[in-house]
Amino acid sequence: MSAFYRERVLSVRHWTDTLFSFRATRDCGFRFQNGQFAMIGLEVDGRPLVRAYSMASANHEAELEFFSIKVSSGPLTSRLEKIREGDTILVGRKATGTLVTGNLLPGNRLLLLSTGTGVAPFASLIKDPDVYDRFETIILVHGCRQVPELAYGEELVAKLRDDELFGPLLCDKLIYYPTVTREPFRNRGRITDLISSEQLFNDIGQPPLDIATDRVMMCGSPAMLGELKQMFETYGFVEGAGNVPGHFVIEKAFVER
Ligand code: A2P
Repeated sequence: MSAFYRERVLSVRHWTDTLFSFRATRDCGFRFQNGQFAMIGLEVDGRPLVRAYSMASANHEAELEFFSIKVSSGPLTSRLEKIREGDTILVGRKATGTLVTGNLLPGNRLLLLSTGTGVAPFASLIKDPDVYDRFETIILVHGCRQVPELAYGEELVAKLRDDELFGPLLCDKLIYYPTVTREPFRNRGRITDLISSEQLFNDIGQPPLDIATDRVMMCGSPAMLGELKQMFETYGFVEGAGNVPGHFVIEKAFVER
């Protein structure tokens, strides 16, 4: 148990019958880079029951935030979805992960490609002033099956646009592109198709993909990541990791297995 901080749940919000987010206190010793994840969970029968969760809060924030799926058969999320304000959660002391700007070569345009809860690390990254220093344009794409699943990302971006510090940065630099695949919406289609057909770039009035300027972070369903990786590699993009920066980095969205 010494590997974990015990934090107090400050609030819980249920977005759909399969998605919820929660905020918790943050130990002043808990350090992380925006985009990283840690092992998060509950103490069950005296033992830690934890899974990897990306921090959706930025590292300058006093509180922690997480965005989670609910899986009724999942040992952790079936319990975690019942947490309430005042409950205790475990937060692993060590944060890690590949979705950090240091793993990318310098570039002008950053594509953040996510499905489902894979938007969580990007929620952290788009609150990082350093990201706006490094890149001229940031394109956040969030793909879901249905419109209500976009609500977390929609509200996040809307709040940042209203923020005194981030509002002007977002206005100049962030392009948010939500898309759904299973019901009518203003943007429709899978991220893979939207990129290969160039529909994404046409819709937002941006130039097509260019390895000289574009850097990519991806987080979401393993099937999507597999296809995107292959696609970007055929375009000549090289994956970055560890201490060798590349054109793109990948992290799967952590769901119950
Ligand atoms: P689709 O509805 O066409 O399957 P999930 O909820 O299964 O994780 O999916 C989240 C989003 O990711 C959905 O919009 C889904 O589209 C999309 N998706 C699933 N598999 C792929 C894939 N191989 N490539 C691109 N997008 C995918």
